[in-house]
Amino acid sequence: MNLGLNIDHIATLREARKINDPDPLEAVFIAKNAGANQITIHLREDRRHIHESDVKRIIESSILPINVECACDENIIAFLCEQKPHKITLVPEKREEITTEGGLNLNQKGLKDIIKEFQKYQIQVTTFIDPKKETISISKDLGVDAVELHTGEYANLHAMIYSNLSRHKNSIKSLQLKRDVLNSLLQESLNNLKICSSLAQKLSLGVFAGHGLNYFNVSPIVKIDPITELNIGQSIIARSIFTGLDQAIKEMLRLMR
Ligand code: PXP
Repeated sequence: MNLGLNIDHIATLREARKINDPDPLEAVFIAKNAGANQITIHLREDRRHIHESDVKRIIESSILPINVECACDENIIAFLCEQKPHKITLVPEKREEITTEGGLNLNQKGLKDIIKEFQKYQIQVTTFIDPKKETISISKDLGVDAVELHTGEYANLHAMIYSNLSRHKNSIKSLQLKRDVLNSLLQESLNNLKICSSLAQKLSLGVFAGHGLNYFNVSPIVKIDPITELNIGQSIIARSIFTGLDQAIKEMLRLMR
């Protein structure tokens, strides 16, 4: 199981002061030494964390493969075709969202051409999708190399059962349900991820997963055989504030392996 470390939030901290520290590029070297397999960054339309200059420097200097998440934005696509990261993950984007909510709309016009354009530059393309049979078969028809299954629903259910989220002001209103109901929804969500992973594997797609994964909820996901890569950001960067990045990555890798 490979770990793609999402380092956006190192840039979030930098942007809090609009200075040049901490530098996300420094994290790339620490991640490599700690055993991470890939660096993931998201060039958002509002440039709230990662900027073009980060993308350029990280791709030029990285000793790990780089996966860039982006929305279907014409200018960003042109820029990324020039930069040639190893992988692109196409994600939906809304300006007002705190993080990527929900999977990509696979019915949007021009998606097939965008995927082909990236592949012309030897860039592997992944669609970040809601885990459904339909999104997997459409992704296959669109010609992607892999799918990344959105684990947000699983992570929310897990947090409502096993953390203090249900008593917190940020509690998820739609999930304020009885514990036994939440438990069966969590099982369903996990089973669904298993079914979708097997289907994607059968269709010869790479199978990745991510969003909301942390030290407490990652183990059942790791056990889903077809999944070969997890992209994890917030939980590892948050822990690194207290333990240092090297240890935060190693702790996650220990759980994953
Ligand atoms: N995968 C994708 C496609 C994402 O958009 C994100 C969030 O940027 C992640 C994984 C990582 O999510 P988290 O920060 O919750 O670990």
